[in-house]
Amino acid sequence: MGEFADKLIDWYDEHKRDLPWRRVKDPYRIWISEIILQQTRVAQGYDYYCRFIERFPDVDTLADAHEDEVMKYWQGLGYYSRARNLHEAAKSIVKQGGFPTTYAGVRSLKGVGDYTAAAVCSFAYDMPCAAVDGNVYRVLARYLGVDEPIDTARGKKLFAALAEELLDKHRPALYNQAIMDFGALQCVPVAPQCADCPLVDSCVAFRQGKINMLPCKQHR
Ligand code: ADE
Repeated sequence: MGEFADKLIDWYDEHKRDLPWRRVKDPYRIWISEIILQQTRVAQGYDYYCRFIERFPDVDTLADAHEDEVMKYWQGLGYYSRARNLHEAAKSIVKQGGFPTTYAGVRSLKGVGDYTAAAVCSFAYDMPCAAVDGNVYRVLARYLGVDEPIDTARGKKLFAALAEELLDKHRPALYNQAIMDFGALQCVPVAPQCADCPLVDSCVAFRQGKINMLPCKQHR
Protein backbone atom coordinates (compact mmCIF):
# COMPACT_ATOMS: atom_id res chain seq x y z
CA MET A 1 0.00 0.00 0.00
CA GLY A 2 0.97 3.65 -0.09
CA GLU A 3 3.57 5.46 1.94
CA PHE A 4 0.86 7.47 3.71
CA ALA A 5 -0.96 4.41 5.09
CA ASP A 6 2.27 2.63 6.04
CA LYS A 7 3.63 5.59 8.00
CA LEU A 8 0.27 6.22 9.63
CA ILE A 9 -0.04 2.61 10.77
CA ASP A 10 3.57 2.58 12.05
CA TRP A 11 2.75 5.70 14.06
CA TYR A 12 -0.42 4.05 15.39
CA ASP A 13 1.45 0.92 16.52
CA GLU A 14 3.50 3.15 18.77
CA HIS A 15 0.91 5.67 19.97
CA LYS A 16 -2.51 4.02 19.88
CA ARG A 17 -5.00 4.41 22.67
CA ASP A 18 -6.24 1.17 24.17
CA LEU A 19 -10.01 1.58 24.01
CA PRO A 20 -12.59 -1.09 24.87
CA TRP A 21 -14.50 -0.90 21.57
CA ARG A 22 -11.25 -1.55 19.69
CA ARG A 23 -10.85 -4.96 21.28
CA VAL A 24 -14.09 -6.30 19.80
CA LYS A 25 -15.46 -7.17 16.37
CA ASP A 26 -19.09 -7.24 17.57
CA PRO A 27 -20.95 -4.77 15.30
CA TYR A 28 -23.43 -3.99 18.09
CA ARG A 29 -20.74 -2.80 20.48
CA ILE A 30 -18.91 -0.88 17.77
CA TRP A 31 -22.16 0.80 16.73
CA ILE A 32 -22.88 1.84 20.35
CA SER A 33 -19.36 3.28 20.71
CA GLU A 34 -19.63 5.25 17.47
CA ILE A 35 -23.02 6.73 18.40
CA ILE A 36 -21.66 7.80 21.79
CA LEU A 37 -18.54 9.29 20.17
CA GLN A 38 -20.48 11.21 17.51
CA GLN A 39 -20.78 14.28 19.73
CA THR A 40 -18.75 13.26 22.76
CA ARG A 41 -15.02 13.13 23.43
CA VAL A 42 -13.36 9.81 24.17
CA ALA A 43 -12.44 10.89 27.72
CA GLN A 44 -16.11 11.49 28.56
CA GLY A 45 -17.61 8.73 26.41
CA TYR A 46 -15.45 5.95 27.85
CA ASP A 47 -17.34 5.48 31.14
CA TYR A 48 -20.72 5.88 29.47
CA TYR A 49 -19.81 3.16 26.98
CA CYS A 50 -18.73 0.76 29.74
CA ARG A 51 -21.87 1.31 31.81
CA PHE A 52 -24.13 1.08 28.76
CA ILE A 53 -22.59 -2.20 27.57
CA GLU A 54 -22.70 -3.67 31.04
CA ARG A 55 -26.46 -3.02 31.25
CA PHE A 56 -27.25 -3.67 27.55
CA PRO A 57 -24.64 -6.23 26.42
CA ASP A 58 -26.45 -7.16 23.20
CA VAL A 59 -29.05 -5.79 20.84
CA ASP A 60 -31.87 -7.97 22.23
CA THR A 61 -31.35 -6.60 25.73
CA LEU A 62 -31.41 -3.04 24.41
CA ALA A 63 -34.50 -3.63 22.29
CA ASP A 64 -36.37 -5.15 25.28
CA ALA A 65 -35.52 -2.29 27.63
CA HIS A 66 -37.88 0.57 28.50
CA GLU A 67 -37.04 3.85 26.84
CA ASP A 68 -36.86 5.53 30.27
CA GLU A 69 -34.06 3.23 31.30
CA VAL A 70 -32.13 3.73 28.06
CA MET A 71 -32.42 7.49 28.59
CA LYS A 72 -31.20 7.11 32.16
CA TYR A 73 -27.97 5.55 30.90
CA TRP A 74 -27.56 8.47 28.50
CA GLN A 75 -28.17 11.13 31.17
CA GLY A 76 -25.41 13.75 30.99
CA LEU A 77 -24.22 12.92 27.47
CA GLY A 78 -26.58 15.35 25.74
CA TYR A 79 -28.00 15.12 22.22
CA TYR A 80 -30.72 12.81 23.53
CA SER A 81 -32.10 12.08 20.09
CA ARG A 82 -29.06 9.80 19.76
CA ALA A 83 -30.39 7.57 22.54
CA ARG A 84 -33.95 7.56 21.18
CA ASN A 85 -32.68 6.67 17.70
CA LEU A 86 -30.43 3.97 19.15
CA HIS A 87 -33.34 2.35 20.95
CA GLU A 88 -35.57 2.53 17.90
CA ALA A 89 -32.81 1.09 15.71
CA ALA A 90 -32.24 -1.75 18.19
CA LYS A 91 -35.89 -2.76 17.89
CA SER A 92 -35.69 -2.69 14.11
CA ILE A 93 -32.48 -4.78 14.16
CA VAL A 94 -34.21 -7.44 16.26
CA LYS A 95 -37.21 -7.34 13.93
CA GLN A 96 -34.86 -7.86 10.95
CA GLY A 97 -33.40 -10.92 12.66
CA GLY A 98 -29.99 -9.51 13.53
CA PHE A 99 -27.45 -6.78 12.96
CA PRO A 100 -27.24 -5.79 9.28
CA THR A 101 -24.21 -7.20 7.47
CA THR A 102 -24.09 -4.84 4.47
CA TYR A 103 -23.08 -1.19 4.22
CA ALA A 104 -26.55 -0.25 2.93
CA GLY A 105 -28.18 -2.14 5.80
CA VAL A 106 -26.04 -0.42 8.43
CA ARG A 107 -26.45 3.00 6.76
CA SER A 108 -30.24 2.65 6.87
CA LEU A 109 -30.35 2.37 10.69
CA LYS A 110 -31.85 5.40 12.40
CA GLY A 111 -29.11 7.81 13.50
CA VAL A 112 -26.42 6.28 11.27
CA GLY A 113 -24.85 8.52 8.62
CA ASP A 114 -22.03 7.94 6.15
CA TYR A 115 -19.29 8.28 8.76
CA THR A 116 -20.85 5.89 11.29
CA ALA A 117 -21.76 3.30 8.65
CA ALA A 118 -18.19 3.30 7.34
CA ALA A 119 -16.76 3.07 10.86
CA VAL A 120 -18.99 0.12 11.82
CA CYS A 121 -18.46 -1.75 8.53
CA SER A 122 -14.69 -1.31 8.55
CA PHE A 123 -14.17 -2.06 12.26
CA ALA A 124 -16.63 -4.96 12.54
CA TYR A 125 -16.48 -6.49 9.05
CA ASP A 126 -13.21 -5.18 7.61
CA MET A 127 -15.03 -3.66 4.66
CA PRO A 128 -12.90 -1.19 2.69
CA CYS A 129 -14.88 1.92 3.64
CA ALA A 130 -13.16 5.21 4.50
CA ALA A 131 -14.61 6.73 7.68
CA VAL A 132 -14.32 10.51 7.36
CA ASP A 133 -14.83 12.40 10.63
CA GLY A 134 -13.53 15.81 11.71
CA ASN A 135 -10.11 14.39 12.52
CA VAL A 136 -9.81 12.82 9.09
CA TYR A 137 -10.85 16.02 7.28
CA ARG A 138 -8.07 17.84 9.08
CA VAL A 139 -5.36 15.26 8.38
CA LEU A 140 -6.27 14.98 4.69
CA ALA A 141 -6.66 18.73 4.15
CA ARG A 142 -3.21 19.36 5.60
CA TYR A 143 -1.32 16.39 4.19
CA LEU A 144 -2.65 16.97 0.66
CA GLY A 145 -2.86 20.78 0.98
CA VAL A 146 -6.54 20.91 -0.01
CA ASP A 147 -8.15 24.33 0.55
CA GLU A 148 -11.62 23.32 -0.61
CA PRO A 149 -14.05 24.07 2.28
CA ILE A 150 -15.09 20.94 4.18
CA ASP A 151 -18.61 22.18 4.95
CA THR A 152 -20.02 22.32 1.42
CA ALA A 153 -21.52 19.54 -0.68
CA ARG A 154 -18.68 19.92 -3.17
CA GLY A 155 -16.01 19.78 -0.47
CA LYS A 156 -17.54 16.73 1.20
CA LYS A 157 -17.62 14.92 -2.15
CA LEU A 158 -14.00 15.79 -2.87
CA PHE A 159 -12.79 14.68 0.58
CA ALA A 160 -14.80 11.45 0.37
CA ALA A 161 -13.02 10.66 -2.92
CA LEU A 162 -9.58 11.53 -1.53
CA ALA A 163 -10.25 9.47 1.59
CA GLU A 164 -11.19 6.44 -0.55
CA GLU A 165 -7.96 6.84 -2.52
CA LEU A 166 -5.71 6.93 0.53
CA LEU A 167 -7.56 4.18 2.44
CA ASP A 168 -5.52 1.01 2.95
CA LYS A 169 -8.01 -1.43 1.44
CA HIS A 170 -6.19 -4.46 2.83
CA ARG A 171 -6.28 -3.16 6.41
CA PRO A 172 -9.28 -0.81 6.56
CA ALA A 173 -10.04 -1.27 10.27
CA LEU A 174 -6.46 -0.63 11.30
CA TYR A 175 -6.10 2.29 8.89
CA ASN A 176 -9.32 4.01 10.01
CA GLN A 177 -8.40 3.69 13.69
CA ALA A 178 -4.92 4.97 12.90
CA ILE A 179 -5.97 8.11 11.02
CA MET A 180 -8.55 8.94 13.72
CA ASP A 181 -5.98 8.72 16.51
CA PHE A 182 -3.42 10.57 14.43
CA GLY A 183 -5.87 13.46 14.08
CA ALA A 184 -6.87 13.32 17.74
CA LEU A 185 -3.34 13.13 19.18
CA GLN A 186 -0.73 14.39 16.67
CA CYS A 187 -2.31 16.47 13.89
CA VAL A 188 -4.49 18.39 16.37
CA PRO A 189 -6.42 21.57 15.43
CA VAL A 190 -4.23 24.05 17.33
CA ALA A 191 -0.45 23.67 17.62
CA PRO A 192 -0.08 20.28 15.89
CA GLN A 193 3.14 18.44 16.62
CA CYS A 194 4.81 18.87 13.23
CA ALA A 195 8.31 18.74 14.77
CA ASP A 196 8.06 15.02 15.38
CA CYS A 197 5.47 14.10 12.74
CA PRO A 198 6.28 11.04 10.63
CA LEU A 199 4.40 12.52 7.64
CA VAL A 200 5.97 15.98 7.67
CA ASP A 201 8.29 15.35 4.69
CA SER A 202 5.36 14.89 2.32
CA CYS A 203 2.88 17.22 4.05
CA VAL A 204 1.85 19.90 1.55
CA ALA A 205 0.41 22.29 4.15
CA PHE A 206 3.62 22.13 6.19
CA ARG A 207 5.77 22.80 3.13
CA GLN A 208 3.58 25.74 2.15
CA GLY A 209 3.28 27.14 5.69
CA LYS A 210 -0.50 26.64 5.66
CA ILE A 211 -0.97 24.29 8.62
CA ASN A 212 -2.99 26.86 10.57
CA MET A 213 -5.20 27.69 7.58
CA LEU A 214 -6.38 24.13 6.94
CA PRO A 215 -8.94 22.69 6.92
CA CYS A 216 -11.01 25.58 5.46
CA LYS A 217 -14.64 26.27 6.25
CA GLN A 218 -16.99 28.39 4.23
CA HIS A 219 -19.41 29.02 7.12
CA ARG A 220 -17.64 29.77 10.35
N1 ADE B 1 -14.08 8.79 17.66
C1 ADE B 1 -15.03 8.23 16.91
N2 ADE B 1 -14.82 6.93 16.75
C2 ADE B 1 -13.70 6.63 17.43
C3 ADE B 1 -12.97 5.45 17.66
N3 ADE B 1 -13.38 4.30 17.13
N4 ADE B 1 -11.87 5.53 18.39
C4 ADE B 1 -11.49 6.71 18.90
N5 ADE B 1 -12.12 7.84 18.72
C5 ADE B 1 -13.23 7.81 18.00
